[in-house]
Amino acid sequence: MEKQMIEISKSTRNVIGMPLVGFGTYQLSAEQAELCVSEALKAGFRHIDSAEGYQNEKGTGKGIKASGASRDEIFITTKLFPGFKQWGTPEKTYEKTIETLKTQLQQLQLNYVDLYLIHAPLSELRLEQWSALMELKKQGLTKHIGVSNYNEERIKEILDAGLAKPEANQVEFHPICSQIDLTKYMKQNSIAPIAYSSLAPLSTWRVEEGQGGEVLAEIKKECQVVIKEIAAKLKVSEAKLLLRWGLQHGYCVLTKSSKPERIRENLNVFNFEIPDSEMERLNLLNQNRAIAWAASGLNPMEAAPVLK
Ligand SMILES: NC(=O)c1ccc[n+]([C@@H]2O[C@H](COP(=O)([O-])OP(=O)(O)OC[C@H]3O[C@@H](n4cnc5c(N)ncnc54)[C@H](OP(=O)(O)O)[C@@H]3O)[C@@H](O)[C@H]2O)c1
Repeated sequence: MEKQMIEISKSTRNVIGMPLVGFGTYQLSAEQAELCVSEALKAGFRHIDSAEGYQNEKGTGKGIKASGASRDEIFITTKLFPGFKQWGTPEKTYEKTIETLKTQLQQLQLNYVDLYLIHAPLSELRLEQWSALMELKKQGLTKHIGVSNYNEERIKEILDAGLAKPEANQVEFHPICSQIDLTKYMKQNSIAPIAYSSLAPLSTWRVEEGQGGEVLAEIKKECQVVIKEIAAKLKVSEAKLLLRWGLQHGYCVLTKSSKPERIRENLNVFNFEIPDSEMERLNLLNQNRAIAWAASGLNPMEAAPVLK
């Protein structure tokens, strides 16, 4: 895999001004989101990743407020849930997309977000939704627009329709799912890559009742041996090793925890480097297996319905 040559420090931001490590809010209740987002911002995170689908944006908004962090120092991403016929959730039209971000902003207690994403290409109306994101950017309700779980084919649909290029694409990215071709494509086309579920290979990932972490446990076992060995050699935790691996591949990384000590630990990834030889060993663990959505029986990158 290609080596990235970017400076990696606590104050580094990517091309759209996004701090390299963000705090994710999936699987937090609204009450937990309030406490953990505030804790994360107080610990030094300057980037929060939210979504309509996480059903906790009111809590996230309260947490941002409670932290006392100044709005222009922090980078807030949120996502549109596009609707998905297979799940019986209505697909959002252009107008509904515009209305949705306005409602999300009220819940987040913000005047604008820094990045608005279509959560996944799950709707036949995805080009219409993308046009609405372009309008939301024009209105200043979001500074940047992007997509999530879009493969090269889905991104090309947008470009072929003559619409604006997505500025970022948020995808599952860890050594078992290393998106080699898509990463190259995004780099060639200056689309900022954002990694989610960096910690999916670990046995501590989503272990609470109903979180779905047990899925594909058997394919992770061999990888866990290698990850453990390299982490011990570098004297860092396995979580930090995986986050740093994403950073050294040129990604911004997101990480969620409900525990204050882990929230602080996960931000502390700027004081060590993974040598090339160990990066290569981690790269070899790739199986192109998406884990994050697997408990729902869906791979969001492959579930797109045909366009109307
Ligand atoms: N666009 C998408 O489709 C999509 C999909 C998935 C995620 N995301 C975004 O990406 C964020 C991160 O992904 P994720 O939620 O899968 O989170 P993650 O950071 O990859 O993993 C979180 C899991 O690992 C545990 N954990 C956290 N820190 C740890 C540490 N230092 N040591 C050991 N275990 C640790 C957490 O448990 P505790 O909470 O108990 O600490 C939790 O079970 C999400 O919150 C969300 O914002 C986006």
